[in-house]
Amino acid sequence: MLKEKYQEQLKSIIELLDYYIDGIYDIENEEDFEPMMEEFRQRCPYKCYISNGATKGVIVFGDLGFVIKTPLIYNSGGEEIYGAGGDHDWNYCEAEVKNYIAAQEYGVDKCFAKIEYIDSIGDTKHPIYIQEYVETIGVTNEMSSHTDEDINTVREIINQSPAYDYIDTNWEADLLASYGRKFYEKIKEFIYRQEINDLHKGNIGYNSKLPILLDYSGYHAW
Ligand SMILES: Nc1ncnc2c1ncn2[C@@H]1O[C@H](COP(=O)(O)OP(=O)(O)OP(=O)(O)O)[C@@H](O)[C@H]1O
Ligand SMILES: [Mg+2]
Repeated sequence: MLKEKYQEQLKSIIELLDYYIDGIYDIENEEDFEPMMEEFRQRCPYKCYISNGATKGVIVFGDLGFVIKTPLIYNSGGEEIYGAGGDHDWNYCEAEVKNYIAAQEYGVDKCFAKIEYIDSIGDTKHPIYIQEYVETIGVTNEMSSHTDEDINTVREIINQSPAYDYIDTNWEADLLASYGRKFYEKIKEFIYRQEINDLHKGNIGYNSKLPILLDYSGYHAW
């Protein structure tokens, strides 16, 4: 369990975040986000940076080997909901946890960055999650261990099989080169079955040079 492995570091991070989380993720107070986040960063005993997406707030503790994720809050007709900015209440972190468990059951979890629910903190009982750190494309030089033949195989498979979305061809070729064709096809099948879309370059990366997904909650345009 990640929670247990990092319990010592998490203890001091959560103690501090418990104070800041309501302010940081208060949609009524967006202008306070930057100064409060900066204060949190300065007081936090561990080096970190913020890397929010459209649906999740993310605090990256690269040196420690994990990130903290939390669902972002939006205002929908005066009501505070989790989601992507529409009016559908959807906790994308919880969706990621469910997909991780499904990946374990399907036997493909080694390509999904492990994520776990930690606790609900602050006055608003805001849920927070821990996920293993992944080197994002741009931070790392891509593994590029694949051959031209791997690229051709990937293109062939992409043309033949149903898919929700385009995933980076080089990254897919690394997946094929690292784990072989059978496992590569199994993973693609799983991604399709779980309707995991939105696998753009910011949502994939490498862990010890092996390709891995870091955002696999999908994105819904409700
Ligand atoms: N496990 C991780 N390791 C390193 N960086 C991460 C990790 N998880 C998220 N990040 C960083 O935070 C960003 C936002 O996280 P994530 O993609 O999960 O959120 P999102 O809001 O669902 O994104 P999107 O905008 O794609 O919907 C990522 O693009 C990445 O840069
Ligand atoms: Mg993302």
